[in-house]
Amino acid sequence: MKVITVEDLSFRYRRAVNYSLRDVSFEVKKGELLGILGPSGSGKSTLCLTFNGIIPHSIKGDFSGDVIVRDPKTGEEYNTKETPVAKLSTIVGLVLQNPESQLFNMTVEDEIAFGLENLGLDRNEIMRRIMWALEVSGLEGLEKEFPPNLSGGQKQRLAIAAILAMKPEVLVLDEPTSQLDPVGREEVLGLISLLRKEHGITVILVEHHTGYILRFADRVIVMDGGRIILEGKPGEIVEEVEVLRRLGVKLPPSLEISHELKRRGLIKRLAFTEEDLLSEIKSL
Ligand SMILES: Nc1ncnc2c1ncn2[C@@H]1O[C@H](COP(=O)(O)OP(=O)(O)OP(=O)(O)O)[C@@H](O)[C@H]1O
Ligand SMILES: [Mg+2]
Repeated sequence: MKVITVEDLSFRYRRAVNYSLRDVSFEVKKGELLGILGPSGSGKSTLCLTFNGIIPHSIKGDFSGDVIVRDPKTGEEYNTKETPVAKLSTIVGLVLQNPESQLFNMTVEDEIAFGLENLGLDRNEIMRRIMWALEVSGLEGLEKEFPPNLSGGQKQRLAIAAILAMKPEVLVLDEPTSQLDPVGREEVLGLISLLRKEHGITVILVEHHTGYILRFADRVIVMDGGRIILEGKPGEIVEEVEVLRRLGVKLPPSLEISHELKRRGLIKRLAFTEEDLLSEIKSL
């Protein structure tokens, strides 16, 4: 079942000379993890802003084509052009590239409660959802903490928790680990894996750590200059190594090495991880 359908989408920011999205078409299926790769300025964040209607409602410009969001619970379809952001946000939760820009309350708890209060939920339901969001994001015990005092990983998990509490069907994460050290990154990526496994949530993930996308995504789109230039399963995308290199999309070392070995006919399969690479080499 499709949850998002993007059809011939083009967008140019007001006063910008060039289009930031050009004839973009693709679908997102319920329950999948769609990875988005592409160099800086290729349009990844702009695309994310179209899923919950921030573009074209709050950020205006020349917009053509359609983004259709389908609520899997009711089967109803919403064209983002004709649907307010407040409605779309109950289906599509967007965590922005810079989590700090999304945190402005005095405590962790208030931060999570904020969006819920705007949904008009009763007090008990709000409390239940706060507890749940704190638990899944591993922030229990930090309820009264002042968000700016949290670590980078905790801030990013809080930004995700605040969106999750709204129980969106689709979670859109724009570089959720960009400002994190490897420990913080593992925390956030671990949370995303858990949400998919235990809650069947659909995830759209922009992430410049290509290795993670290639290991965990069901499908990947690669953008360049506002267009989709590759789309496929991770195994198909990594075959296009020349395209990725040209774009400056950095492959993990295990893939770079295994490409070289495969090119020389020494191994048959590309290795996504160091463990895979080691077992390929051992079987030589
Ligand atoms: N508010 C804006 N006004 C005008 N142009 C913008 C605006 N935001 C982004 N752009 C332009 O749109 C294009 C796509 O930008 P976008 O931020 O979507 O890229 P990105 O792929 O997310 O890059 P990054 O990897 O650096 O986050 C760029 O050329 C950028 O300069
Ligand atoms: Mg971006």
